Amino acid sequence: MLATLKDVLAKAQKGKYAVGAFNVNNLEILQAISRAAAKLKAPVILQTTEGAIAYAGMNYLKCMVAQAAQEHDIPIVFHLDHGKDLAIIKQAINNGYTSVMIDGSHLSFEKNIEVTKKIIGWAHAKGVSVEGELGTIGGVEENIAARKILYTDPDSAKEFVEQTGVDALAIAIGTSHGAYKSAGAPRLDIDRLKEIRKRVEVPLVLHGASSVPDWLVRTATHFGARLGKPEGVPEDQLQEAIKNGVAKVNTDTDLRLAFDAGVREVIATAPQDFDPRHILGRARELMQQVVEHRIKLFGSGGKA
Ligand code: G3H
Ligand code: 13P
Ligand code: ZN
Repeated sequence: MLATLKDVLAKAQKGKYAVGAFNVNNLEILQAISRAAAKLKAPVILQTTEGAIAYAGMNYLKCMVAQAAQEHDIPIVFHLDHGKDLAIIKQAINNGYTSVMIDGSHLSFEKNIEVTKKIIGWAHAKGVSVEGELGTIGGVEENIAARKILYTDPDSAKEFVEQTGVDALAIAIGTSHGAYKSAGAPRLDIDRLKEIRKRVEVPLVLHGASSVPDWLVRTATHFGARLGKPEGVPEDQLQEAIKNGVAKVNTDTDLRLAFDAGVREVIATAPQDFDPRHILGRARELMQQVVEHRIKLFGSGGKA
């Protein structure tokens, strides 16, 4: 049985830890995440973007997640990340997702409230949780051009939550998506987070939270990647954010880096080997290491 975001995050908020939400795009990524979570007895959120759905197909993703949930005795949430297309959101709600994000952050405050309420109407009728977003998280995603961070205003956050009834709120406090978060490590606006926390009771969500670990950048680069000067969120700042009320932490970029490093390593060190299981198997191992490390960092190990 899949768990809902609402249940899993309510426990996290009470226990003062965060649940990791990791982006799934294929079988190896899904296995890396679910094996890491099962090994550490951690609740986990398996999330797919509209880009992941376009790549893999919603039904394939759904079946793989269902299999992971059957195999592992831990709470697993199946979540739509950055839902923007109302038809896809509706399809997800009717097709086994236990949680959806409506990303109305590019809209006006009023329009964001309006569309978020509409999705909540559809979702709650089916027992599906809803994550909303207020403020703009920076960075580049497949469906979004580079955009600036617009920090979340604490009073508007209160009004947004009261008017919509969202189950969780994504806020902008200085993170951005992707591997190039800022020149010099980003600093999270923890004072702003504290002000939001004072006014808002629902669990808070941190997007763009990858830490871009040095060892992965070095490994990928050693085997031929050209990554320039990537920069992630320092791990101590993530822990500070969790201490101050963040209950869901999103990671995609670190998985992409681990995948890249693993594939490059096998291709470079065993050029005679063209078995996809060896090439993707190493990528899966490195991704599992990343997820295990982050679960420990977030404090969710042993909370299943
Ligand atoms: O925000 C989430 C991702 O890092 C972007 O993923 O390329 O699947 O849209 P995407
Ligand atoms: P990263 O790009 O920092 O991994 O953020 C992922 C994310 O927020 C997915 O919604
Ligand atoms: Zn995101």
